[in-house]
Amino acid sequence: MNGTPAYDHAQLQEAAKRHLWLHFTRHSTFDDADVPTIVRGVGQYVFDQHGKRYLDGLSGLFVSQIGHGRTDVAEAAARQAAELAYYPLWSYAHPRAVELAERLAGYAPGDLNRVFFTTSGSEAVESAWKMAKQYFKLTGEPSRYKVLSRYIAYHGTTHGALAITGLPDIKPPFEPLPAGGVRVPNTNFYRAPSFVADDLTRFGAWAADEIERAILREGPETVAAVFVEPVQNSGGCFPPPPGYFGRVREICDRYGVLLVSDEVICAFGRLGYMFGSDRYGYQPDVITFAKGVTSGYAPLGGMIVSDRLMEPYLRDETSFLHGVTFAGHPVSCAVALANLDVFEKEDLLAHVRANEGAFRATLEKLHDLPIVGDIRGDGYFYGIEMVRDKATRETFDDDESERLLRGFLSPALYDAGLICRADDRGDPVIQLSPPLTCGQEHFDEMEQILRSVLSQAWQQL
Ligand SMILES: Cc1ncc(COP(=O)(O)O)c(C=O)c1O
Repeated sequence: MNGTPAYDHAQLQEAAKRHLWLHFTRHSTFDDADVPTIVRGVGQYVFDQHGKRYLDGLSGLFVSQIGHGRTDVAEAAARQAAELAYYPLWSYAHPRAVELAERLAGYAPGDLNRVFFTTSGSEAVESAWKMAKQYFKLTGEPSRYKVLSRYIAYHGTTHGALAITGLPDIKPPFEPLPAGGVRVPNTNFYRAPSFVADDLTRFGAWAADEIERAILREGPETVAAVFVEPVQNSGGCFPPPPGYFGRVREICDRYGVLLVSDEVICAFGRLGYMFGSDRYGYQPDVITFAKGVTSGYAPLGGMIVSDRLMEPYLRDETSFLHGVTFAGHPVSCAVALANLDVFEKEDLLAHVRANEGAFRATLEKLHDLPIVGDIRGDGYFYGIEMVRDKATRETFDDDESERLLRGFLSPALYDAGLICRADDRGDPVIQLSPPLTCGQEHFDEMEQILRSVLSQAWQQL
């Protein structure tokens, strides 16, 4: 089959339009347009059904760390499916889950060494919240259930994860959501309040202290956890200001609140380290992960916690009353192990650290365009915020945003051969999160396509 669909182009389009329901997608856009269909991938590139090549500047969806088409990883999946395709982690173990848990515990910072697998990032977040709630019930603090998270942050779509997610516009159809989600400021320095806008460190201290104020407002005895990403994705890549995470850690310790580092995007090399918390030097109580753990060759997620958090679950008749059928699937675990082998053999973390400066410098050339307001991020994870007026940082109104992002930029970038994300869930941004194997030629290709398409976008305004 070679990955080529058995259908011809017209049949595939017809079947896609009649039967396939895409996620977070306006299907009306396909009334008179094709459903973009990707049929295969090689390295940093993917190909559509016409054979056209695209630079995968988003690693699919922040997933394909090692790139596409790796037969060594595919073969690991095939071997595992032949040996043991499935067994649940309900009451049983299987060797690949054990090996992977031990390996992840070895990479994880500090005393994080117990791994609970899921199949996705939303389930990882959901599991972390449930683990925290049950933990506090087991340890005599049953009123702790609330969760703090940051404005515009995305933590997933299942009901619990959606209650933690800070994007207001994707919630109303599903309300009422589980009670207990509380919002605190994020670390968007470009849009910092005026009283801290001239000093990054003071801004970071203010943003961290807002977490303390929220805990005090809610009542510390009701707060279970704070969920934060190392670099917040949604809104366009907000790195932490210097000192921010140290202060958040202190605040969590002061009030007995768990610090959950949601690393569904930021782990596994995205920031040049196995975990984002390593990069910024803080010790979480829980790490949630998914995506890059398998580079997408099979689905897997999970959380890593310390012995301290698991200890109450080890007593007498107690168990964590939670699980899903496909969590820690043997094929996914085998794939994750093979993926991590690639990380080590090719020293991908060192590659990202050695090249991230060049990536940043290449993107920063775009600052000469009038539409480019801010370029921010770390590692291989960048957001470019677009503005109507560079001097005042004035953003676009809803109608301009709609015309610019959905009407023009997304299709124009795709037509030009670059897959990235034009996102207006906060202020309008383009996001880049390419495979970790990318080098200067790929950075240049991204910059050239963005330069041309963003220049056209400016003329259209
Ligand atoms: C930080 C974070 N948490 C959770 C999720 C949800 O992951 P999934 O889509 O695998 O459910 C995402 C997805 O992008 C994410 O970025």
